[in-house]
Amino acid sequence: FKKLLIDVDPGVDDAQAIMVALAAPNVEILGITCCHGNTPLENVCKNTLRILKVCNRLDIPVYRGCAAPLLARKIHASDFHGKDGLGDAPDPDAPGLELLQEEGAVMAMIRTVKENPGEVILVATAPLTNLAVAVKLDPTFPEKLKGLYIMGGNTDSRGNTTVCGEFNFVADPEAAYIVLNQYHCPTYIAPWEFSCRNALPWVRLTKRLFPQALITPHNSFQFENIKEMEGNSGFNSCDTYAMAAAIDDTFVTESEEVAVTVELEGRYTRGMMVLDPVEMLKKQHKVNIMKTVDLEKLKKMLMDSLK
Ligand code: BDR
Ligand code: CA
Repeated sequence: FKKLLIDVDPGVDDAQAIMVALAAPNVEILGITCCHGNTPLENVCKNTLRILKVCNRLDIPVYRGCAAPLLARKIHASDFHGKDGLGDAPDPDAPGLELLQEEGAVMAMIRTVKENPGEVILVATAPLTNLAVAVKLDPTFPEKLKGLYIMGGNTDSRGNTTVCGEFNFVADPEAAYIVLNQYHCPTYIAPWEFSCRNALPWVRLTKRLFPQALITPHNSFQFENIKEMEGNSGFNSCDTYAMAAAIDDTFVTESEEVAVTVELEGRYTRGMMVLDPVEMLKKQHKVNIMKTVDLEKLKKMLMDSLK
């Protein structure tokens, strides 16, 4: 069994990633930590509980994390994910926030990893604020992880939030900087352009994929939004790539090992991931940037998650 800790900001693609993890036969989810991001933290917490309720897995502990970035101005992505962060589908039976654990997300992350040294895989699909605070509270936290899988950053200066910046990194550039510079554990990154290049072609999505979903409105909301986005030739569930890679070691078929950092200044480039292939920064630690994946596996994981 792979032991997963998941840090999220649902978010329709976070929801899909969580559902993929719930459906994976080889995964134990030790906890889900919530972070500000696609929508304010209260919505993120509520949405995480909603997803677990629909999937009948409210036994998984959910923790409240950071409500704001370290320094940056707070941003959300309601144009894409809806005002409630999950497609604005009515949900009269949504569970209440009293179901959240009392322990805060960062303390829970540190404790869980301490209790399972060398065994926990951390999957981060939100701004990296919780992870940055965790390493500041416990500098030994990263070395006790088995691996870290991040959806975020970009490789070709094609942004989705600013000209050059991807949402999770732009939403908290300082946190992304801290994580990329202080987490010296095996690290795997699913950047924005990679997920665009590896989108599931529309033609392969049977009409049945979405109507079958228990939380159909979330998916159809994203479906319409993505279709409208220029240059998107397929369904891009970006957070699911980081999750799928964490669950199945054979999912990523090509990756590049390279040192990276994050631009913290710059009118157009703040929050952009910077690659250092010629090693000018003289960094010891390198990350694995995902390049290509097995799309059949992705499709199967998504379909299984809807069953
Ligand atoms: C990332 O930002 C969010 O909108 C998505 O949930 C994903 O984590 C893509 O840039
Ligand atoms: Ca996300």
